[in-house]
Amino acid sequence: MDQRFYITTPIYYVNAEPHIGHAYTTIVADVLTRFHRLMGYETYFLTGTDEHGDKIVQAAEAAGTDPKSYADRISALFRETWPRLNIRHDDFIRTTEPRHVRVVQHILQKVYDKGDIYFDTYRGHYCVGCERFITDRELVDGKCPDHDTPPVEREEANYFFRMSAYQGWLIKHIEQNPDFIRPERYKNEVLAFLRDPLEDLCISRPRERLSWGIPLPFDERFVTYVWFDALINYVSALDYPDGALFRKFWPVAQHLIAKDILKPHGIYWPTMLKAAGIQPYRHLNVHGYWKINEGKMSKSRGTVVRPLDLAPTYGLDAFRYFLLREMVFGLDANFSEDALVQRLNADLANDLGNLFSRTLAMTSRYFGGQVPPFGDPEEPEDAELRHLLEQAVEQYQKEMPQLGFHKALMTVWDVINAANKYIDRTAPWDLAKDSSRRGRLQRVLRTLLELNKTVAVLLVPFMPETAEKMLFRLGVARNALDVRLDRDAVWGSLREGGAVEKGEALFPRVDLKKIASDKPLGKKDAPAVAAASAPKATRETPLGVQDGLIGIEAFQRLDLRVGVIRAAQRVPKSKKLVQLTVDTGERRQVVAGIGEHYAPEELVGKTVILVANLKPARLMGVESHGMILAAHDTHGLRLITTDAPTAPGSKVS
Ligand code: MSP
Repeated sequence: MDQRFYITTPIYYVNAEPHIGHAYTTIVADVLTRFHRLMGYETYFLTGTDEHGDKIVQAAEAAGTDPKSYADRISALFRETWPRLNIRHDDFIRTTEPRHVRVVQHILQKVYDKGDIYFDTYRGHYCVGCERFITDRELVDGKCPDHDTPPVEREEANYFFRMSAYQGWLIKHIEQNPDFIRPERYKNEVLAFLRDPLEDLCISRPRERLSWGIPLPFDERFVTYVWFDALINYVSALDYPDGALFRKFWPVAQHLIAKDILKPHGIYWPTMLKAAGIQPYRHLNVHGYWKINEGKMSKSRGTVVRPLDLAPTYGLDAFRYFLLREMVFGLDANFSEDALVQRLNADLANDLGNLFSRTLAMTSRYFGGQVPPFGDPEEPEDAELRHLLEQAVEQYQKEMPQLGFHKALMTVWDVINAANKYIDRTAPWDLAKDSSRRGRLQRVLRTLLELNKTVAVLLVPFMPETAEKMLFRLGVARNALDVRLDRDAVWGSLREGGAVEKGEALFPRVDLKKIASDKPLGKKDAPAVAAASAPKATRETPLGVQDGLIGIEAFQRLDLRVGVIRAAQRVPKSKKLVQLTVDTGERRQVVAGIGEHYAPEELVGKTVILVANLKPARLMGVESHGMILAAHDTHGLRLITTDAPTAPGSKVS
């Protein structure tokens, strides 16, 4: 079996701020990546921004700036949004980067040399919104159906890609690889399109009309059409043709998109790859559209949903869970805050939250907060629950790689609901009254603890923070990224006698009315649904410092993590510097100026807070990867720590 996994999102246009649609695709890519990590795969996750073309020039003009500055600003917004949704991508590519431009020109030259790019004159209907000529067949009432605007007549001498030459090959490839484009409805859509003769693709724009693009290497009077440019990001980011990443990950490439960009990905891209002599991607995964109040998201109607307005109100994990549970992959779904709150209260606060807190409360009450032994032999009702869990684990592993997220979650919730019923049926509170039934009580509680642990493992891809918290409170201190299904979901793997921690509710119930009344006046009807205004020029510095204050975005750029000091020694010839080995899930070397306040031997075992994304520095010749936090006063310096043991690598926010 291939133990590698490569996933891409579309690279987003920099003409709009990130909204829930972008967030959904990018969270799905994150969930898939985390799932494959959980299964022990080596993973690579790419996202980025698409920065050339008419649209960007127009948006920059409207904002009163030049395309480059505009692209820099919006691209940074995307880049800053993803970590705040707990999305861990490996690379973020921008089409204006030299590493991308180089590969686009290389591929153009290769296809040109092969004779698959030719010069010709074209006359037709051009849609500015789509940035392409559209055929008569595509027009609805004389208008582009996607943009509801009439196209303009245009005649142009341009370069064309001989896409038609690959039509036969593409049809065959799709037919021979039934899950090349999935779910099936989208494969059928592409095949239906391919029933008519494919036209060649115009892949250049005269420079005098559009200069914001990549020049053709064989004719400087033209720049590359934005789709030909953008699609290539999927290989340029891997350093095609000679990069090690390309060799390692391209053979397992999967793309993730919504249905709006099916044609470029299902037709242009595979034929471009074929012409360039690159093997086709493995899967194109296509999802539907999020609608707001059953309609299209629209700036003018004020129905743009911004993920960063929602996540802090409802909790990041609840938001991620909702998106993945609510949408059937491939179909459209409707977004509403009511639906989000309902799911949060029913699935998370009630079902999962109750199961977890009941299990821990009873462990603490009846076993002093320690994992009991298995006790009496298994009874049929225990075995039945365990089998249900085993089946769920199997079903989950089948559904996840084929994008059945809602089904995978439904199976997990079947187990959660069955476990809640099991508690009611076995009534541990009655067993506890009878000392002769201690062994039975142990069996019931241990069964529940093991089940909660496996549920937490299965939730790692969807709700990494919650899963980490659950595992930690069950006595398994592991960073979400290091959890492995085959090791951590094994029945009986909890340490007998290990401490569990009751703690507070995982998901407090949410009262939508209260949230609405807490919002500033005038926002009551649409708490987090707001018209996305084009970002205005402000007096902000690049770090977001404005009039001496920083925004939450600037603070959240800091990656603060819990670490445990595993080793400490003085840096030779320095009074102040101590060289530390800090465990944040991984081991890193950190140099700290605390030598006058702590002896190295006092430091080992201490929990500290580390700024984990600080640029590495050399201090007296020793490399330091991060900085630990300390408070100073007139008495000296004290390290900042957590008030109870916390898993190394946990995020501090
Ligand atoms: N730049 C191109 C893609 C080039 S990829 C080589 C582009 N950008 S985009 O900013 O318009 O992003 C489109 C993508 O954003 C969709 O395919 C989807 O991933 C996401 N979504 C945008 N709106 C969406 C919804 N309303 N619902 C779900 N996803 C949506 O096209």
